[in-house]
Amino acid sequence: MKTIEINGVREEIIERSDFPVERVRAILGSEVTAVLGYGPQGRGQSLNMRDQGLNVVVGVRAGRSQDRALADGWEEGENLVSIEDAAEQGTVVQYLLSDAAQIAMWPEVRKRLRSGDALYFSHGFGIVFRDQTGIIPPDDVDVILVAPKGSGLTVRTHFLSGRGINASFAVHQDHTGRARDRALATAFAIGSGHVFETTFEHEVFSDLCGERSVLMGLIQGAFKAQYDVLRAHGHSPSEAFNETVEEALQSLYPLVGEKGMDWMYANCSTTAQRGALDWAPRFEAVLRPVIEDCYQKVLSGEEARITIAANSDPNYRSRLESELGAMADQELWQAGRVLRDFRPERAAGEDGDRSGPG
Ligand SMILES: NC(=O)c1ccc[n+]([C@@H]2O[C@H](COP(=O)([O-])OP(=O)(O)OC[C@H]3O[C@@H](n4cnc5c(N)ncnc54)[C@H](OP(=O)(O)O)[C@@H]3O)[C@@H](O)[C@H]2O)c1
Repeated sequence: MKTIEINGVREEIIERSDFPVERVRAILGSEVTAVLGYGPQGRGQSLNMRDQGLNVVVGVRAGRSQDRALADGWEEGENLVSIEDAAEQGTVVQYLLSDAAQIAMWPEVRKRLRSGDALYFSHGFGIVFRDQTGIIPPDDVDVILVAPKGSGLTVRTHFLSGRGINASFAVHQDHTGRARDRALATAFAIGSGHVFETTFEHEVFSDLCGERSVLMGLIQGAFKAQYDVLRAHGHSPSEAFNETVEEALQSLYPLVGEKGMDWMYANCSTTAQRGALDWAPRFEAVLRPVIEDCYQKVLSGEEARITIAANSDPNYRSRLESELGAMADQELWQAGRVLRDFRPERAAGEDGDRSGPG
């Protein structure tokens, strides 16, 4: 465990070395972990726990998830059962259905929770917006969260490569006095590399704001705006795409991830540096109120209301497909599909030579 301090704010970072597999097994050894759902998170988390020798049962409905679980070696009637049966068997119940399905299945799961069980989430949505989801756990269970900071596929691939993934953890309700230990042990059982503490509220507010903003919504808006401006001024699709998406994702952003934006600014041409220094505050001034507005709408429950209403509309699937199809048809992403094929194979040792934009 390490205490970090950034600008006067102290936080504890708990590492895998604090929870070696023997300690995880000592805490969870007598538990049955029921993983409900076999989407990206259910799959990654359950396989990592199985590989670490824990007692796991997966609960799915018939169909795609069940087929996937069978292909991964889970055995029907043994450690692959219905959602209801898994909820019945689990002493730690990992609720990893889609957020919409969590609402639909809650009455079935709720009645199978026994005193002393732990109800586990990877997202604070169901609990924080309980007025809308109806997910209100009984008082005599622990309610815990581990939220990997990445897709379920990354949870699995990073575990297999020995890296682990960053995750946050939280305790919403501690009935047994063991909720924190159960959360931390499960965090490392599912393959976390290090974890930091949060609350259900902070997890869901930051997650919803992040995906609507810099992780997805804002970045799509920024990519498209710049691509369209370049195209409107006569630049070819190749030039507009390379200058907007390809250079960002293939060259600059990985370096920002490795070394920070300060390093990037210090290691680019003086022309790029001067311009980026001058323009960054202008973008910040425009974007900050938009991000604040987004956060307020998350905080008020408005974004949850929109999401729940959309997912419960029987026509939503066709509306969603048409919206996603419209994005795929944007010239920006048509160009991407063509131009990605021309990416050179990465040469070994290339990373050391990369530097910022010209
Ligand atoms: N994806 C991420 O990057 C990520 C990261 C951190 C946390 N989380 C959280 O982790 C949880 C799981 O997310 P996910 O992305 O792994 O899952 P997901 O793809 O949203 O959900 C998939 C699972 O839910 C099942 N499901 C959907 N509708 C159902 C219904 N009506 N009845 C029964 N089962 C149903 C699916 O079964 P079928 O295959 O049969 O449809 C599948 O097993 C969510 O709370 C999410 O917010 C996700």
